[in-house]
Amino acid sequence: MTSQFSLPEGRALLVQFSCHGVREEKHLIIRHKSQLGERLPGNMNPTAAHHSNEGADVVQQRYNRIAPIYDSCEWFMEYRVRRWRRDIWERIRAGLILEVGVGTGKNVDCYPRAASITAIDLSQKMLERARNKAGKRRPDVEFRLADVQHLPYPDRSFDAAVATFVFCSVPDPIQGLREVRRVLKPGGRILLLEHVLSRNFLLRPLMKSLDPIPTHIWGAHIDRDTLSNVRAAGFIDVREASLLLDIVKRIEAIAPTEQLEAPTILLRRS
Ligand SMILES: C[S@@+](CC[C@H](N)C(=O)[O-])C[C@H]1O[C@@H](n2cnc3c(N)ncnc32)[C@H](O)[C@@H]1O
Repeated sequence: MTSQFSLPEGRALLVQFSCHGVREEKHLIIRHKSQLGERLPGNMNPTAAHHSNEGADVVQQRYNRIAPIYDSCEWFMEYRVRRWRRDIWERIRAGLILEVGVGTGKNVDCYPRAASITAIDLSQKMLERARNKAGKRRPDVEFRLADVQHLPYPDRSFDAAVATFVFCSVPDPIQGLREVRRVLKPGGRILLLEHVLSRNFLLRPLMKSLDPIPTHIWGAHIDRDTLSNVRAAGFIDVREASLLLDIVKRIEAIAPTEQLEAPTILLRRS
């Protein structure tokens, strides 16, 4: 099992480091949770992560199932969200752009004319809708069925990547964000619209405890710390703007110019 984050204090963990293709394994005895954060450098700190145990197949089936009703269920929010979508896409003028989790294609109308867009999604049914929406308006857009956790593109393929309300449903968001970083050219930008876990002392525990409900119905976790995940994935110059309370955020970050693979960590109970 990878990335076990409920850390059993006092138990030995087999920790697997991998860096530049070189793998090393160490046994660590965790006496206190805080110790783990100290032992692991910056982006290897697993307390930043928050991933679900369900696989991509479960997420895929869920979105295939809700694809026919997705747009009608969200229309009441779309009035407000449209403005945020436009705002994020206006920050990109041209270049090779990857849209992750295109869904039913709600961003298609915002695509900059001069940009060459590749749009991926895990769900065939969502992707079909996006393809239909693009239709004759943007016949140049390339749609592809793909999992952001394992992107089918070489390193340094894109100038920028955009995702709107996607990393709340990706099973391992840090892995997905790392993949985005890998396929971005050095200095390339990631732009996200995401709902994240509030820091408010009342909302935070409420969102945590209610999380299983939207996850089950809609597939979206409401307890994700996407800002920390972006940092943990190795992005730099991470900026945020709160759009609705401190829950809906626009996040921007840069893929470092030195695209060395950051050490990854896999935790297994030994
Ligand atoms: C909440 S919808 C958002 C859709 C669209 N971006 C929007 O703003 O309306 C989340 C989308 O992310 C896709 N998704 C979830 N996990 C994914 C993954 N691992 N790789 C690619 N797409 C994924 C889902 O299939 C779904 O279409």
